[in-house]
Amino acid sequence: MASDTIIVETHGRVGLIRLNRPQALNAINVELMGALNAALDAFEADPQISVIVVTGSAKAFAAGADIKEMQHKTYPETLVADFIADWQRLARVRKPTIAAVAGFALGGGCEIALMCDFIIAAETAKFGQPEIKLGIMPGGGGSQRLTRAIGKARAMELCLTGRSIDATEAERAGLVARIVPADQLEAEALKTAAAIAEHSLPALLLVKEAVNRVAETSLAEGLLHERRAFQSLFATHDQKEGMAAFAEKRPAKFENR
Ligand code: HXC
Repeated sequence: MASDTIIVETHGRVGLIRLNRPQALNAINVELMGALNAALDAFEADPQISVIVVTGSAKAFAAGADIKEMQHKTYPETLVADFIADWQRLARVRKPTIAAVAGFALGGGCEIALMCDFIIAAETAKFGQPEIKLGIMPGGGGSQRLTRAIGKARAMELCLTGRSIDATEAERAGLVARIVPADQLEAEALKTAAAIAEHSLPALLLVKEAVNRVAETSLAEGLLHERRAFQSLFATHDQKEGMAAFAEKRPAKFENR
C-alpha cells in the first residue's frame, strides 16, 4: 500500500525510513504504522540491505501514537482489534536498526526509538512517556523497554510524571548511545550504519540476537547462547575472510555469507 506517511531511501547497504506526517509531528496512526511495517518487511527481505535507520524530522521523531485517532476507541475495540499488535514489528527486525532522533520522541515515539538497537540523538531530542497526562499509560513497550534501558527509578519517574528529558539527560541515563549536532544527525546516523554494514551480516545478526538475549534469559543460558553463536560463525565464509585478511594485513572484504 503506497503511503506518503513515510519516505523510504537506500544509501548503499543502508535502508532509511523517514517518518513523514509533518502536520501532526509524525504522530503514528494506523496508516503510518502499516507503511513502516511494510518498509521493514521489504528491507528485511532485501539481500542488498544490512542495516536500517529510522528517523523523523528536525522538529519531531514522533510525538506519539495519534491521539485523535485513538480518542474515541472503546475498550473492546482496543482489545479485539488489538492495534498495538502492529507496533511490535520493528522490535522483531533481525538486521541492526538505529533510531536517529531529533526533536520530540514522546509516548509511542519514544517506544519506537526504544525498539531500535540503539539511538543516536540530536542535541534537540526530547524523550518522554507523557501518556499519564492523557489518563492512560505506555502501551508500546515503554514501561518495559524504558525500564530495562535506564533502570527502575528513572523509568518510574518518567512514566509517573510524564516529564520529558533532553538529549544530555538521556545520554547520562544510558538511553542514547551518542549525541550529535542537529544538522549532522542524519549524516552521522548513516555513517554509523554504513560502518556497521561493512561487517559480515551473519555475524551482525548473531551479535544482535545475543545482546537481546540479556533481557530474556539467565546469565548461564545467555553465555551458552553466545558460545554456540560464536562457534557457528566458524561455518561462515566471512570468518575465513576476516581472519585471513588480518593475517595478510589487508582490509577484509565480507560477502555476507
Ligand atoms: C495527534 C498530534 C500529536 C499526537 C502532536 N499532534 N502530537 N496529533 N497525536 N500524539 C498535532 C497537534 O494536535 C497539532 O495539530 C500539531 O501536531 C502540532 O502540535 P502542537 O501541539 O501545536 O505543537 P507544539 O505546541 O510544538 O507541542 C508539541 C508537543 C505536543 C509538546 C509534542 O504536540 C504534545 O504534547 N503532543 C502530544 C504528545 C503525547 O501526549 N504523546 C503520547 C501520545 S499517547 P493541529 O491540527 O492542532 O495543528 C501514545 C501511546 C502509545 O503515544 C501507545 C502505543 C500504541
